[in-house]
Amino acid sequence: MSDIAFLGAGNMVAALVDGLLARSPGSAARLSCLGGSGRTAAALAARTGIRHATSLPDLIAPADLVVIAFKPQHLAGADPRLADLTAGKLVVSVLAGKRTSTLARVFPRARNLVRTMPNTPAAIGAGITPYCTLRPLAAADLALVEDLLSACGQHLPLAEDLMDAATAISGCGPAFLFEFVAALRDAGVAAGLPAETAQRLATETALGSARLLARRQVDPEALRNQVTSPNGATQAGLRRMEAMNFRDLIRQTVLAAKVRAEELSADS
Ligand SMILES: NC(=O)c1ccc[n+]([C@@H]2O[C@H](COP(=O)([O-])OP(=O)(O)OC[C@H]3O[C@@H](n4cnc5c(N)ncnc54)[C@H](OP(=O)(O)O)[C@@H]3O)[C@@H](O)[C@H]2O)c1
Repeated sequence: MSDIAFLGAGNMVAALVDGLLARSPGSAARLSCLGGSGRTAAALAARTGIRHATSLPDLIAPADLVVIAFKPQHLAGADPRLADLTAGKLVVSVLAGKRTSTLARVFPRARNLVRTMPNTPAAIGAGITPYCTLRPLAAADLALVEDLLSACGQHLPLAEDLMDAATAISGCGPAFLFEFVAALRDAGVAAGLPAETAQRLATETALGSARLLARRQVDPEALRNQVTSPNGATQAGLRRMEAMNFRDLIRQTVLAAKVRAEELSADS
């Protein structure tokens, strides 16, 4: 593993660091972090054994890979020394909605820029991270990026013009699925179950179904059909979903999220 600098030390960096250390337990000395005026960097360093850098130059000078992980709104006011400090380094941004062209204004001399969009399951190593790059990645840099991103799950290279649509699916998708599980739980209560039972049944059903789908690698419709007997209970429910335009609702949900993601990345 090459030395990695994390600028920002919040939830996202904690997920990456935990994943990297789980895979390479002896590598804490190669990871450094620096936060803002709060306590997250000191707390992360104390918990994991990674280095808490004393300054921006102290953070970045030894690193080959620099991960930018403060809040997107902090980019505009980022320290101007970053332009020179990141010269020749590979810069990976996890900032939601910040385009590579915007990043290039702050890190003009980086050897390449990677825009990523992790999602919240990254916190338990079960995320999927679409990413795009300013220029095609050299083979060695591709290996660095894949090594970093696989610390918190899977990763998927995409053209930058697909990133807003990807954000609407994998970035916002956990919230849509949590809302679905909450609706399933509430429906279970309406059907007569105690709330705790309904919550457990809904959660484990979502989890098991997603794992089955990933394991079987078939279309979700194929697995849906397997549990749908003619004139059975599942079919009665599915008919109601169709009559209530469930697919159209989800389509509208995702398109609204994509439009907002486009607006936010255009603002940057
Ligand atoms: N969490 C997710 O699942 C997720 C998913 C996709 C994308 N992201 C992206 O990941 C980034 C971080 O999100 P998060 O959830 O990890 O946020 P977070 O937990 O609030 O952490 C923000 C971090 O930024 C630091 N910071 C604040 N001002 C700074 C500055 N001027 N220079 C350097 N560091 C500074 C904070 O340090 P102090 O404590 O010292 O203030 C803190 O360590 C965001 O850009 C977000 O868009 C997150």
